[in-house]
Amino acid sequence: MTAADVIELEGLSKRYGDQVILDDFSLTVRRGEFVALLGRSGTGKTTLLRILAGLEDATSGHAKIAARTSVVFQEPRLIQAQRVWRNVALTTSRRGDVYQRAVGGLTEVGLADKAHAWPKNLSGGEAQRVGLARALFRSPDLLLLDEPFGALDAFTRRNAQDLVTALWQEHQVGILLVTHDIEEAVLLADRIVVLGNGFVQANLPVDLTRPRDVTSPAFNAIKRRVLDSLESLKDTR
Ligand SMILES: Nc1ncnc2c1ncn2[C@@H]1O[C@H](COP(=O)(O)OP(=O)(O)OP(=O)(O)O)[C@@H](O)[C@H]1O
Ligand SMILES: [Mg+2]
Repeated sequence: MTAADVIELEGLSKRYGDQVILDDFSLTVRRGEFVALLGRSGTGKTTLLRILAGLEDATSGHAKIAARTSVVFQEPRLIQAQRVWRNVALTTSRRGDVYQRAVGGLTEVGLADKAHAWPKNLSGGEAQRVGLARALFRSPDLLLLDEPFGALDAFTRRNAQDLVTALWQEHQVGILLVTHDIEEAVLLADRIVVLGNGFVQANLPVDLTRPRDVTSPAFNAIKRRVLDSLESLKDTR
């Protein structure tokens, strides 16, 4: 892995018993690059993220990722017994200006006023934003996002997408975003990777300037290509 990369996977395989999940999966993500990972349900996207996060071992292959990596899962996984600001600062010791920095992170996600709230009193969208603030707290070089907006309503989801774009631009962090939403992938990513049958089926650059117009013909042409790529995988398993 060169200093310019935050993910380098080569020939990664993962089996559960007889079931082959990943089979010769290779992917490189550059520092500061935003990559969306799409694939049908059960194709191994979460498994891949769990391997990257060190929560699961690959069966074989080579995986290297940035030393400072944070993960946000579909559900926020906040610690109920800790106030919001403490959840944001969980990943560090209780030294120095931790509180100020946690509030700074909450300000970035629009939740400074919730610093002293308990997680159970947050809405789903607010809890996800706390999860983002927590993930960014340790200034990661790589952010792994597993369908972080899956449970949000359309309006909240759009706001969360704008927020992730702003945070990505501000922090210059590499992002691997797992999503089921093709429009979300085209809206956010520099590149879309389609996973199917265990490996990368398509690697599609999204060559559109930001902010992106979801109604433009160029946007829809890319959406179409991604959809075609997913459709072509329908019955091959
Ligand atoms: N611990 C496990 N033991 C056995 N099989 C597993 C385990 N974890 C996942 N699997 C299987 O691996 C396959 C891939 O699961 P994974 O959760 O990675 O899919 P996914 O692409 O994230 O799906 P979705 O889009 O529905 O979230 C599934 O068939 C699942 O049942
Ligand atoms: Mg999953």
